[in-house]
Amino acid sequence: MSKIENVEYGLEKIFEEAQDFLPLLGTDYVEFIVGNAKQAAHFYKTAFGFQSYAYKGLETGCKEYASYVVKQDKIRIVLTTPLNQDSWMNDHLSKHGDGVKVVALWVNDAKKSWEETTKRGAKSYMEPTIEKDEHGEIVSAGIYTYGETVHIFVERKNYTGLFLPGFEKWESDYNPEPMGLKFIDHMVGNVGWNEMDTWVKYYEDVMGFVNFLSFDDKQITTEYSALMSKVMSNGNGRIKFPINEPAEGKKKSQIEEYLDFYNGPGVQHIAVASNDIIETVAKMRAKGVEFLSIPPDDYYQSVPKRLSDHNHELVEDIEKLKSLGIMIDADEEGYLLQIFTKPVEDRPTLFFEIIQRMGARGFGAGNFKALFEAIEREQENRGTL
Ligand code: FE2
Repeated sequence: MSKIENVEYGLEKIFEEAQDFLPLLGTDYVEFIVGNAKQAAHFYKTAFGFQSYAYKGLETGCKEYASYVVKQDKIRIVLTTPLNQDSWMNDHLSKHGDGVKVVALWVNDAKKSWEETTKRGAKSYMEPTIEKDEHGEIVSAGIYTYGETVHIFVERKNYTGLFLPGFEKWESDYNPEPMGLKFIDHMVGNVGWNEMDTWVKYYEDVMGFVNFLSFDDKQITTEYSALMSKVMSNGNGRIKFPINEPAEGKKKSQIEEYLDFYNGPGVQHIAVASNDIIETVAKMRAKGVEFLSIPPDDYYQSVPKRLSDHNHELVEDIEKLKSLGIMIDADEEGYLLQIFTKPVEDRPTLFFEIIQRMGARGFGAGNFKALFEAIEREQENRGTL
């Protein structure tokens, strides 16, 4: 179904079609397996404005791995590094490099979430497990999704502790100011050739999600490369997972480049919402975060018309947006502002998007061409186009 058809059909009606056997309250946390969690945590604090939150490691009695939890508003990122040679995490690291292992979902009933999804065909990652400490209990259970990525259902209604049993408060003398990041807007998965529809069906059948936007390789293409994407959402719209697959083009698709370096499917980008993207991006740039190159002048010249075509007026100063390289897209419901970082590790795999929604519920389709041309310039530099 195309974007236009969807708008006529009504997004609310589409969300109603999502099934309620898996009510999701939101994203609970995202866990990365990284080579050096201590240093990664410093990077996310310094460059993204996250705060020290919780810690688990040798000092708390965990001898297998060290985990640092950093937090900014509703976003919790867990950075985990194995401490021993025989940890399974070493294989994950050598295969994928630093990357997302767990997309944890906050639920009211983790056991039921696991039962409902596994009986519909999900492969179990972790059976329902109860962990207790003096603050109560957490029930969690997990299923596999694309590649080696997993969803863990986290039930915390009988828990008053900081994060999870086993974690202690992480107090640091280094506490940078937040940079205005609020919550995770969406998380995108890259899957292999011809696998997009398999994973779309997985999210429909196993998790009761609906496909509310689709983009084919004619919409997402440049002179050189192409991809296809379908956006999956749960019933309340809080969890949105676009799924990308590569498409044939004259040169190598950015999705194929990802698959080569990640050695299979995985999380491509995490989009985080800001209420003031100009301030957020200015602060991130000042701390050394690298973003994809600034779109050319003619891109910004076309912005007023793109907005007026949909009867919207830009609130922000376009010169400021231009100087920071923030992109603008409009649809029937409003507009959105967005910008993409370069990959945040040496392999060209995971990156971040900063997004501010001014009514629009899309994903910046009007920016795809400018964005992908910027990515191709990076691929050219890496010799992977
Ligand atoms: Fe995105």
